Amino acid sequence: MDKILVLDFGGQYNQLIARRVRAAHVFAEIKPYHKITPEEIALSGYRGIIFTGGPHSVYALDAPKCEKEVLSLGIPVLGICYGHQLLAFLCGGTIAPAEEGSEYGKTEVKTQKSVLFEDIPEKSICWMSHTDAVQQLPTGFHTVAATEKCAVAAMADDERKLYGVQFHPEVTHTAYGESVLRNFLFRVCGCKADWQMQNVAQELIARYRKELCGKKVLLALSGGVDSSVAAVLLQKAIGDALICVFVDHGLLRKGEGDFVERTFRDQFGVRLIRVNAEARFLNALRGVTDPEQKRKIIGEGFIRVFESEAKQLGQIDVLAQGTIYPDVIESGKGDSAVIKSHHNVGGLPERMGFSEIVEPLLPRELVWRQPFPGPGLGVRVLGEITKEKLELLREADAIFRKTVDALAQKPNQYFAVLTESRSVGVMGDARTYGYTVVLRAVTTDDFMTAEWTRLPYEVLEKASSRITNEVRGISRVVFDITSKPPATVEWE
Ligand code: XMP
Repeated sequence: MDKILVLDFGGQYNQLIARRVRAAHVFAEIKPYHKITPEEIALSGYRGIIFTGGPHSVYALDAPKCEKEVLSLGIPVLGICYGHQLLAFLCGGTIAPAEEGSEYGKTEVKTQKSVLFEDIPEKSICWMSHTDAVQQLPTGFHTVAATEKCAVAAMADDERKLYGVQFHPEVTHTAYGESVLRNFLFRVCGCKADWQMQNVAQELIARYRKELCGKKVLLALSGGVDSSVAAVLLQKAIGDALICVFVDHGLLRKGEGDFVERTFRDQFGVRLIRVNAEARFLNALRGVTDPEQKRKIIGEGFIRVFESEAKQLGQIDVLAQGTIYPDVIESGKGDSAVIKSHHNVGGLPERMGFSEIVEPLLPRELVWRQPFPGPGLGVRVLGEITKEKLELLREADAIFRKTVDALAQKPNQYFAVLTESRSVGVMGDARTYGYTVVLRAVTTDDFMTAEWTRLPYEVLEKASSRITNEVRGISRVVFDITSKPPATVEWE
């Protein structure tokens, strides 16, 4: 099986790079740049290496760099964004703050004849996000693409098979990004497309059956896809030696806690302990309005409750947790900048790191449920969280989701947010003064970037009129028309 090394320099889109490579049926492994030596790379049999983006400047003293020898192993390299600049830097080129200032967003790129750009039109749209740029090419390289602001948008040294692109081929906004990656994989590295996702579940089950033989394993189950996949894989591997603890923090959507309990206990026969900790969480959150502080309190509370449950279970050998890569990246593990502290990362001592969604293992309703953030409705009640506000939001959210569910083509995520803003309304002959609810719907491939979904007016109308009529305490409904970036999907 051919495989590609994704050398991680802390970029926000690193997991996407690996995903795109795997989608082309080539296996990709992500390794932090400082966790693998040139010798290990040479011995691992990689067909190609991709240097990821990252938030640093290569000329800064503390900039993350790999050994220069990585470039002399005879393995093709593709540098992306920071990786492109690092490649130029290591080969003797110069990098400086971009003369025209930073370049951000969809940008027209003009490409020249190059193996990287085979079958791609000469002019197309790419996604740019950089403040530095390659000023002087290293010896042996030539420029193969440029934008209005960036003279070296791509460079190539065909002899040594070293390539760099300043733009991000891994994000969907780059129109021919997938082709650029495929050209690198197949035309430059000569990979075979023979890797299949389907084999992964069976391999993992077999592996964990062996590795965890005779051990008692504890898993924090949230009911989200990630921990659910981990639970089902482990249950298949070790049966009753797995105990799942489901901490119900009282910030779940309407009916969700019971759904999780039913599914896992009845359908999968998982040993499940449900802890009802609503009061504890609401107490800890009383009077707190800062979004990061709220997230931290929820995250820490979760770990405390989980720990005290674990203590009562006696000897536990392994703690398991399922988490998706974007959470790891956005929480600033390794070298990426922190955007939000995601509550499912860190704290639990040992992650088993399942990173893929293995669909056939789980019922459709579970897998196709939209993602739900670890801190739950805690990040959707703006300002102080109270039981009353949670109740209002739960009802409004259930109505909105039900209305959208009727559509044939559904957004990837849709939910309601309760703002702190109240406004005057009129109902019957009386004045009302209720909360404003925001409806949010996004279309996305990967949740790293997202477009607001153009929902039909009738759907918005129906949701709005049902919410204001049925949920006492909400008197205004607005629709969020911001994409990510510049906004994030959640409001906090
Ligand atoms: P943002 O708001 O970061 O959301 O654009 C991207 C996706 O991640 C979900 N999200 C979370 N998921 N723990 C999670 O498991 C979290 O702390 C968290 N915060 C946001 C969000 O719902 C969206 O799908």
